[in-house]
Amino acid sequence: MKKILIIGGAGFIGSNVGVALRAEGHTVECFDNLSRRGSEILLKRVLDHGCSFVHGDIRNPEDFLKLKDTFDILIECSAEPSVLVGTRGEDARFQINNNLFGTVNCLEFARVWQIPVIFLSTSRVYPYTAINKLAFRESDTRFEYADNQVGVSQKGISTMFTLQGYRSLYGATKLASEYLLQEYGGQYNLPSIIDRCGVIAGPWQLGKVDQGVFTYWIYRHYFEKDLRYIGFGGSGKQVRDLLHIDDLVRLIKKQMGEVGRFRGEVFNVGGSEYSNLSLSETTALCRKITGKKVAVSSTLDNRPADVKWFITDNGNTQNVFNWKPEKKPEDILSDIYIWLSEHTGSFSGLFKGE
Ligand SMILES: NC(=O)c1ccc[n+]([C@@H]2O[C@H](COP(=O)([O-])OP(=O)(O)OC[C@H]3O[C@@H](n4cnc5c(N)ncnc54)[C@H](O)[C@@H]3O)[C@@H](O)[C@H]2O)c1
Repeated sequence: MKKILIIGGAGFIGSNVGVALRAEGHTVECFDNLSRRGSEILLKRVLDHGCSFVHGDIRNPEDFLKLKDTFDILIECSAEPSVLVGTRGEDARFQINNNLFGTVNCLEFARVWQIPVIFLSTSRVYPYTAINKLAFRESDTRFEYADNQVGVSQKGISTMFTLQGYRSLYGATKLASEYLLQEYGGQYNLPSIIDRCGVIAGPWQLGKVDQGVFTYWIYRHYFEKDLRYIGFGGSGKQVRDLLHIDDLVRLIKKQMGEVGRFRGEVFNVGGSEYSNLSLSETTALCRKITGKKVAVSSTLDNRPADVKWFITDNGNTQNVFNWKPEKKPEDILSDIYIWLSEHTGSFSGLFKGE
């Protein structure tokens, strides 16, 4: 059995990973500053499942001194994930301190104790300026990729895709963190795996409009609140892949056994061509699952840093780890709906006014 440290362990991904690993008998310590709205609810869940908790902030090196143990693996799941930071002219330092200097403190902790790292990065490292220039055709319900270029095909965007262009401050802090992980591998021989995740969805996700869009769509149907298609013609044809949290947890479990042989290798992780939806298809599915129909208006102007289409080509990840996504969009949205129905009281207050 392993001793596991989960940074951001009271977040959506961190808490689900923590609960799953604890159930297998591992010792799990969750480290979190509880900055995410609703993280106290997820904290209760991880504690109820036998994980321990340290209240700490990765921006403060001293907070790592609160960790009284050493660990076999560090899983980094914390972030300030909004792609909108910077798009309204605000100060970027909070996000940069959090996501980049915070990574430095995590890496220093890992270096001193020689703890292998699994780092959750994001598909947002791929520039939206490059993605939106790709050639798409338009079907009745979605945009479809219509060409073949280096790093992109109908299977999605692979790790060979260009990194030239603008990607959002969020994406930039994650890409810069990836480079640091690779350098810590090169200079200090620190083992690590980088998972560039597309949209992850599932129970216990406190979805917002700028993070966790599929969960957010189900919430809005469940609580009968209206919705809006933003940009790209206003018809909801923008496409994302979605990966069930359980599929991600299965991958992380496999990677835990193999991280020792990697030094900052990047793996794309997403629902892929197997599991993806446009927003208008998401609306249809939400109506089917919830039996409710909410009004959906539209705006023509694109949201800053938004992309028309993102499907993850995770072929290499599937080969290396003998893993593939198992849950389809309908399973994923249904699981969220069932979870929400069972926990309505805890969550209704979180979404008022959105
Ligand atoms: N959920 C997704 O769809 C998705 C997609 C791509 C990448 N990711 C990445 O996966 C990771 C986890 O995402 P999530 O969806 O669980 O996010 P989340 O917001 O639910 O969880 C993040 C957790 O980190 C904590 N945190 C934030 N700043 C911190 C700090 N300075 N010190 C300590 N704790 C801090 C928050 O309180 C929260 O509990 C993030 O790195 C994110 O970039 C997520």
